[in-house]
Amino acid sequence: MSYVHGYSGREGQRLDDQAGTLEGLLHHDTVFPNGRVLEVGCGTGAQTAILNRSSPGCELFCMDISAPSLSQARRRCQSLGRSGPIFLQGDVLRLPFRDGSFDHVFVCFLLEHLADPTGALLELRRVLCQSGSITVIEGDHGSCRFHPESQQSLQAWQCLIRVQEEMGGNSLIGRQLYPMLAKAGFEQVEVSPRLVYCDASRPDWQEGFVRRTIIPMVEGVFDEAIDAGLIDRASWEKGISDLHLTGQKDGTFIYTFFKATARR
Ligand SMILES: C[S@@+](CC[C@H](N)C(=O)[O-])C[C@H]1O[C@@H](n2cnc3c(N)ncnc32)[C@H](O)[C@@H]1O
Repeated sequence: MSYVHGYSGREGQRLDDQAGTLEGLLHHDTVFPNGRVLEVGCGTGAQTAILNRSSPGCELFCMDISAPSLSQARRRCQSLGRSGPIFLQGDVLRLPFRDGSFDHVFVCFLLEHLADPTGALLELRRVLCQSGSITVIEGDHGSCRFHPESQQSLQAWQCLIRVQEEMGGNSLIGRQLYPMLAKAGFEQVEVSPRLVYCDASRPDWQEGFVRRTIIPMVEGVFDEAIDAGLIDRASWEKGISDLHLTGQKDGTFIYTFFKATARR
């Protein structure tokens, strides 16, 4: 399985930094008081650890297509010392569960990597019980604005969008969650935009979001962007260096995540 961000140690660290920085913004209202919860695309368990803490009364099943990521997720939850989630390897498009097996489904930063996100939603709806709920959190790279801006930093950012698209994903998916969930047959769909704004008065956000989440994500597509001829090396280096300015004294960075909830 290959996907745009890959499975390096640096990417595992980036997912951790991302989840930790965004926890309050994305999860202050994520609570599953009880029942069986399925998290699909759990990766190295960065969101799992949050769910495990915030919803101790639920029975958590976590799935990912990558066995190495699942091993890391398992180790992380063991180190938290709780009787933890059950981890399983599998594909969201072919879930090994009977119809109606779960009370809640949770998906974070997964649909953007799939060639068939609607197929995934149909499969997730199938495994939900009659009044079951789904929570989906995705980003939207088209929502991003930053200052200062240069031709090269904009070009580097576009490389991220293009490489993901070439690999069959869609980094602009956040804005499509409402119609996508409705099309898959979900009801009571509600979408809540979650805006991140970073400037020098918020050094934690500049560090956690701009420097540790965003810039490593862009840097991660260097090889693919160069190989595909999307940018030349000199423009790339200038673009990355300019992106760093957006997380420094006179820089600002704005990005919107989308959190959707719906019922079967
Ligand atoms: C960006 S990571 C997000 C991980 C985690 N949700 C987080 O927020 O830290 C996306 C994850 O989706 C997984 N994935 C990709 N395609 C999948 C599929 N068809 N079925 C299950 N998991 C998949 C990848 O292996 C990767 O771990």
